Amino acid sequence: MELERLQRAIAGFEALLDENAAENATRNVAKSATKNAGKNGAEERAGVDADEARVLHAGSALLRELVANDDWLPPQYAQPDAQHYRQYLLHADAAERFSIVSFVWGPGQSTPVHDHTVWGLIGMLRGAERSERFVPDEAGAAMRNLGETVLRPGDVEMLSPAAGDIHRVANLYDDRVSISIHIYGADIGRIRRHVYDPATGAMREFVSGYANAREV
Ligand SMILES: [Fe+2]
Repeated sequence: MELERLQRAIAGFEALLDENAAENATRNVAKSATKNAGKNGAEERAGVDADEARVLHAGSALLRELVANDDWLPPQYAQPDAQHYRQYLLHADAAERFSIVSFVWGPGQSTPVHDHTVWGLIGMLRGAERSERFVPDEAGAAMRNLGETVLRPGDVEMLSPAAGDIHRVANLYDDRVSISIHIYGADIGRIRRHVYDPATGAMREFVSGYANAREV
């Protein structure tokens, strides 16, 4: 078992988010030195988007490295459940800036249509999964299905709330377990987000939790 591989990814994300915080501090100092400080919401938003783009881009490389080999995930985080997919917390950042989760799909299992509200990265470790993207249409109408992506071992997909992060994910296989490693910009099992009925667009809040207690 190579938990070193996981530790390397954790250290990589910590460094990446520290860098972002340092750049934000520099940007805020520069901004407060100008007359219009705090007045420009678009500028503020552009800063947030730039941070997210940087995390998604550099974070993809870190996650790709983590899922390049399937030799490190401890078996207790790879156990399927007979009824539902499971999510095991592998690491929660002390400052809640990110979390790392293993998703274990039993044969044929899938999530409801849901969002995340924070940036996310999905890296395929074992088996394969299908992700279908959705966007809301008019009130009460069926959601629009934007098509699907299939992830295979080593593939990494990005999720950005700004670009639309509503999807449904399913094990591509009916006869075996699939496992993906997810990294999110919050303690994902503990934040409020939404599930959707794709037939009507109706949404409700949910908190996903984890199949295990907080560890590592
Ligand atoms: Fe998701």
